[in-house]
Amino acid sequence: MSVTQQQVQDVLAKVASPRGVALTNAGVLSPIAVNDGKVFFSINVDATEARTWESVRAAAETAVRAIPGVSVAMVALTAERKPGASPPSPPPSRHAQGVPNVASHRPPQGAPSPMSRQAEIPGVSAVIAVASGKGGVGKSTTALNLALGLRDLGLRVGLLDADIYGPSVPRLTGIHEKPQLNDERKMIPVMRFGLAIMSIGFLVEEDTAMIWRGPMVMSAITQMLRDVAWGTLDVLVVDMPPGTGDAQLTLAQNVPLKGAIIISTPQDLSLIDARRGLAMFKKVNVPVLGIIENMSYFQCPHCGTQSDIFGHGGARHEAERLGVPFLGEIPLHISIRTTSDDGTPVVASEPNGAHAAIYRAIAAKVRDQLKAAIAAA
Ligand SMILES: Nc1ncnc2c1ncn2[C@@H]1O[C@H](COP(=O)(O)OP(=O)(O)O)[C@@H](O)[C@H]1O
Ligand SMILES: [Mg+2]
Repeated sequence: MSVTQQQVQDVLAKVASPRGVALTNAGVLSPIAVNDGKVFFSINVDATEARTWESVRAAAETAVRAIPGVSVAMVALTAERKPGASPPSPPPSRHAQGVPNVASHRPPQGAPSPMSRQAEIPGVSAVIAVASGKGGVGKSTTALNLALGLRDLGLRVGLLDADIYGPSVPRLTGIHEKPQLNDERKMIPVMRFGLAIMSIGFLVEEDTAMIWRGPMVMSAITQMLRDVAWGTLDVLVVDMPPGTGDAQLTLAQNVPLKGAIIISTPQDLSLIDARRGLAMFKKVNVPVLGIIENMSYFQCPHCGTQSDIFGHGGARHEAERLGVPFLGEIPLHISIRTTSDDGTPVVASEPNGAHAAIYRAIAAKVRDQLKAAIAAA
């Protein structure tokens, strides 16, 4: 049975709003995305009204979920502050524009550090972000192989593909099935290679995800963190959207991160982006566990000879200069690319190879840095 937009409109017409009219007439709804039983939309209100609308959001979500055939309903409450409006109470985050209502995870005023102020995810010991200043530097490939390296250290590991603009984890893992729901209607992550994996790409087509507005992105990610039955995990690796814009900052601010890892290539341009990434995490008090140089040097697939076509070592120097740990370098190698693109990541498919060993060594450093960061917090 396929769910239609009209069915969603019909149930929402029965939900009352604080404006005294039906929700559908309150002028607050985003376009409604309906895709294979999954329904997504947002309620956009002024930040000053956000609190009074939370119950409406919840009622809307419950109503949509009750439609036969709906498997997932994500309703975001997005609170945008009008330009020049005085700050509501509690104060909005520094980047009020486009920040959704995440009141439950919003820091109390004067909280010392985001590490203590964001609600933890039950059962998950540590969430770490893998970030990059720009796309195409191998962030997702590294995040997945790093997650596998952490798994090889005996840790229970999850991977959340939060790159809503271009979720690539379905391709990198070869996962094409949709997550099932448990009795509490939480999504069950897909298990592959011993990892608990969740991606917005499991729920919507890549191009659907790309038209999402910032607030919906954040809300969807928050739900993927909290409305997914992650089980017991030592580490949840989050593949962040590339870049250091407002969406990324909001994410860094609202996800209970214990640390962040920056992926850079040796090129100068990419390093400038990496520096922005560092600055972003610093701003939100998330410890940077270190920098990884990807595509560090070219390794000939035939003779194994290394050539430093990109001026290898840039990230190491930069890390030293900035006083950030350097976690390791990963060569540019055809087998990393082909395994990645075939959905058989190299650490899983060639566990005894040299590349798997590199990722595992990096994973060990990440684990140690993470322990140190948690001890220092
Ligand atoms: N170390 C590497 N050697 C060879 N190819 C790589 C390496 N890292 C990533 N790639 C390839 O580069 C492309 C971009 O990688 P991806 O992980 O999707 O980047 P991002 O997530 O930063 O956009 C993919 O085709 C991937 O297979
Ligand atoms: Mg990616």
